[in-house]
Amino acid sequence: MERPVDHTDADPDGGFLPWAAAMDRALYGPEGFFRRPTGPGAHFRTSVHASPLFGTAVLRLLREVDAALGHPDRLSLVDIGAGHAELLTGVLGQLGDDPLSRRLRPIAVELADRPAGLPDAIEWLPRPPKGVSGLIIANEWLDNVPCDVVELGRNGPRLVEVAPDGSERLADEPNDSQQAWLEHWWPTWRMGRIGDRAEIGLLRDAAWARAVEALDEGVAVAIDYAHAVDSRPPLGSLTGYAEGRQVPPIPDGRRDLTAHVALDACAAAAEHVADWSRRLDQRTALRRLGITGARPDLATAAADPIGYVRALSRASAAAELTDPAGLGRFTWLVQGVAVPTVSSLED
Ligand SMILES: C[S@@+](CC[C@H](N)C(=O)[O-])C[C@H]1O[C@@H](n2cnc3c(N)ncnc32)[C@H](O)[C@@H]1O
Repeated sequence: MERPVDHTDADPDGGFLPWAAAMDRALYGPEGFFRRPTGPGAHFRTSVHASPLFGTAVLRLLREVDAALGHPDRLSLVDIGAGHAELLTGVLGQLGDDPLSRRLRPIAVELADRPAGLPDAIEWLPRPPKGVSGLIIANEWLDNVPCDVVELGRNGPRLVEVAPDGSERLADEPNDSQQAWLEHWWPTWRMGRIGDRAEIGLLRDAAWARAVEALDEGVAVAIDYAHAVDSRPPLGSLTGYAEGRQVPPIPDGRRDLTAHVALDACAAAAEHVADWSRRLDQRTALRRLGITGARPDLATAAADPIGYVRALSRASAAAELTDPAGLGRFTWLVQGVAVPTVSSLED
């Protein structure tokens, strides 16, 4: 996928840049956080790292898409923002020598280099291929697509610029397209108080639209911490993560920088290609795909102690993935192109 923001390395002004450009440099520049060979899994735990059950759910959805497409000769599973392709590797492992594995084209779309030791079957691309038939998954990708930050200052709305040490200053007014986005998608912000902030999702909208445009036929799913137009956070949500801890958002290349995603705006940006669209929380989505945190019946423990312990550990992994105070609160944006609706994700 194209780099979302152009930036120069010139540093005439203490290195201050608008947030989107600073984020782009800190995450994806030559010394950027996501260029490190350790991969994102060394710093935070996504649903993919939490349990193989997440891959089980994706595989179930993939089978459903496969059936809806009439079992094409080549079925793609495209993971955008794949990290170290842990999801694809897990799905391939679960498939084993299932006949679907002979038709499957697993594709990791990643800006970082391909890690050593991946199965040969996994293609590694910098942007989604054209003409995809199958399923596109983007787990915790869009929150890492850079966004600009605006703040209500004494003289009205101003773009926030940030230096590599994290110090900030208010700069220009947002441009026309930024203003239009804010008016439509973050309307409460203008009525807020001095110091209130909003995060402009234009680059995320464009990135998601390009992802859905890659589909000839199939389903695209974006999974992220999200907010909707009636519940935007008044101070924004930009933050940092390093070594498993939440840290201040400083664009120094040593931490993840992330902000929750206006997935309603992303959905609208892909409406010109999507035939249908829905949003649901991860707890509901995973339950519908057969992942529940229900504990096994204690009465089975005596007859089958190993089976009982396995079922208990599966239930506890499922509980983490569906926890309404944690990963279960993520939003799934699901959009379909030239495919009937996916029944397991229907209301
Ligand atoms: C938070 S990690 C998520 C990794 C994985 N999806 C998971 O759930 O564990 C985000 C990943 O998206 C990648 N990324 C960000 N922007 C991208 C783009 N435009 N194209 C491809 N990959 C991108 C980053 O390099 C990073 O590996």
